Amino acid sequence: MSSSKKNRAFWNSWSVAYQAAHGPVLSQKALAWGVWRIPESELRILGPIEGRRMLELGCGAAQWTLGLAAGGAHAVGIDLSEQQLAHARTSTESIGEGPGLVQGDAENLPFQDGVFDIVFCDHGATVFAAPKKTVSEAARVLRPGGLFAFCMSTPIRDICFDPSTGAVSTKLATDYFGLSRFEDVESVEYQLQYGAWIRLFRAEGLVAEDLVEIQAPPDAVTTYSDFVAANWARRWPAEHVWKLTKTA
Ligand SMILES: C[S@@+](CC[C@H](N)C(=O)[O-])C[C@H]1O[C@@H](n2cnc3c(N)ncnc32)[C@H](O)[C@@H]1O
Repeated sequence: MSSSKKNRAFWNSWSVAYQAAHGPVLSQKALAWGVWRIPESELRILGPIEGRRMLELGCGAAQWTLGLAAGGAHAVGIDLSEQQLAHARTSTESIGEGPGLVQGDAENLPFQDGVFDIVFCDHGATVFAAPKKTVSEAARVLRPGGLFAFCMSTPIRDICFDPSTGAVSTKLATDYFGLSRFEDVESVEYQLQYGAWIRLFRAEGLVAEDLVEIQAPPDAVTTYSDFVAANWARRWPAEHVWKLTKTA
């Protein structure tokens, strides 16, 4: 089964429980990054959003996309899972005209070349879609000079993830050079070595402006405690945000 087919089924079946566990905090802290919900106003990844044509890859219930539209962006959210989008549509109904919501695959975007100023996600499709296709598609739909930003797990966290306990250890537990595609009975996820990410970006005409490594705040709390423990993420970066510009 392709990763998209498997992940679509997974997110359709998990969506109700996922939104029950995380939806309220994601809505309350909509314009914020990662499991600690660090505000965009603090990290300043996206810059000014008013009037910007923005695409969220793997928007889920579209808390980010809705928040951006409320801030004046022309925001579109795409997601594989119709169940996740159903949660998003419930929220947009209550506010009248909302952002565009599209069911589709980040590996094969249904948009023309160069139509977005900003493409981004927060633990979205870049976790679950093949990096080569997803980065290539993000670069294709960006205008020259546009921004591609995405937050996901770091390779450091992933090589400390111990499959035998299902938790992140303080010891190296997984081969760094084995980072690639991870499939279990439910879903498929991806990670690359740092150098492989950079070579992929350059091959698609994307230049790294920054890699923002997120440290858990001292008083950190999260609804995603299974992702990493707060005391671990005080010592090492469990998440980071790649910030890339498309060259002309
Ligand atoms: C962890 S959620 C992230 C959404 C939101 N930022 C959040 O924190 O809830 C990941 C989302 O990516 C979507 N997704 C996975 N693979 C995708 C793909 N190939 N194309 C589009 N969306 C995808 C899933 O359906 C899911 O809604």
